[in-house]
Amino acid sequence: MVGETGHSDQSGEATDGLATERLVPDDAGIAHAAALLRAGQVVAFPTETVYGLGGDATDPSAVAAIYAAKQRPRFNPLIAHVPDAGMAQSLLQLDHHGMQLAKAFWPGPLTLVATMQPGCPVASLATAGLETLAVRVPASPLARRLLRAVDRPVAAPSANPSGGISPTTATHVLSGLDGRIAAVLDGGACTVGLESTIVGLSPEGPVLLREGGVSVEEIEAALGRPLRAAGDAIVAPGQMASHYAPVAPVLLDGVAPDADHLLLGFGGTPGATLDLSPGGDLAEAAANLFDALHRLDAMAAGRPIAIAPIPDTGLGRSINDRLRRAAAPR
Ligand code: TXA
Ligand code: MG
Repeated sequence: MVGETGHSDQSGEATDGLATERLVPDDAGIAHAAALLRAGQVVAFPTETVYGLGGDATDPSAVAAIYAAKQRPRFNPLIAHVPDAGMAQSLLQLDHHGMQLAKAFWPGPLTLVATMQPGCPVASLATAGLETLAVRVPASPLARRLLRAVDRPVAAPSANPSGGISPTTATHVLSGLDGRIAAVLDGGACTVGLESTIVGLSPEGPVLLREGGVSVEEIEAALGRPLRAAGDAIVAPGQMASHYAPVAPVLLDGVAPDADHLLLGFGGTPGATLDLSPGGDLAEAAANLFDALHRLDAMAAGRPIAIAPIPDTGLGRSINDRLRRAAAPR
């Protein structure tokens, strides 16, 4: 498959020129994916949020191969994925709020950032040299079976070339990274469709670092207190303004169909090229968002993609965060 993101001219990486295997999600496929990961290879795998580009988080060269395959800046740290909350606690110092959130949302689409435990085996390249680490326990049964088989924390950013649209199917992964990674474990479409929500734990209280698959309202309800907004002091380094971007230009607040652009609708927008959820359901819209952007990008042929307004509550806030970044000046 030919990538749409123009990486064919960027050669010289150790991962280039591989024949990428598409693995079936049965016992043999999972065992093979785990063996590749334990041998230091880079393997894409599904979670309930998006496909991750996995590598052994304790192996600096495996982590370097993730950055190389994605062309990701090395100052942007990675999330370590583990199969259960117990293993997460062996890596992270969770305070009272961290424990509350872990109980409420793990396994699930929440990532916690906290100070590492002493002797944490995660390679410093994965944390970009920070003293904090991001950890997540995915809910996808397939992801958890794979993580159990690997039996080491697996570093995994979204499995797309840096800055591009996140993948929610194995085909999306291959459209961006075919030939650059050892394998993709094909578990079908992701059910949540947006990356995890990221919360940082600090002595002043929990901080929202990225909106995502768990809504802010749900997190605040579990904590019984408001989340602090990330100020200038604490930021997720990956929160660049331009991100999740199709090749085609993206225009927000599109209302009317127009021959000169494609229209991504919500809740039955008249004349929409595609509708994220004709019935106006935000969870359905989240699950469809990245696939819709991939499809519209393939159809665009130079035309801009206009996006209908999405309600800014619950998962709608996370969807609007991704759309603002997709529309930001590149
Ligand atoms: O749902 C997800 O979170 C997916 C799946 C594969 O698990 N992963 C994902 O990873 O979205 P990525 O690398 O695309 O985004 C991780 C974000 C980045 O914005 C990064 O800067 C932030 O997490 N991050 C990682 N470690 C951090 C740390 N120690 N402090 C603050 N932010 C951190
Ligand atoms: Mg990403």
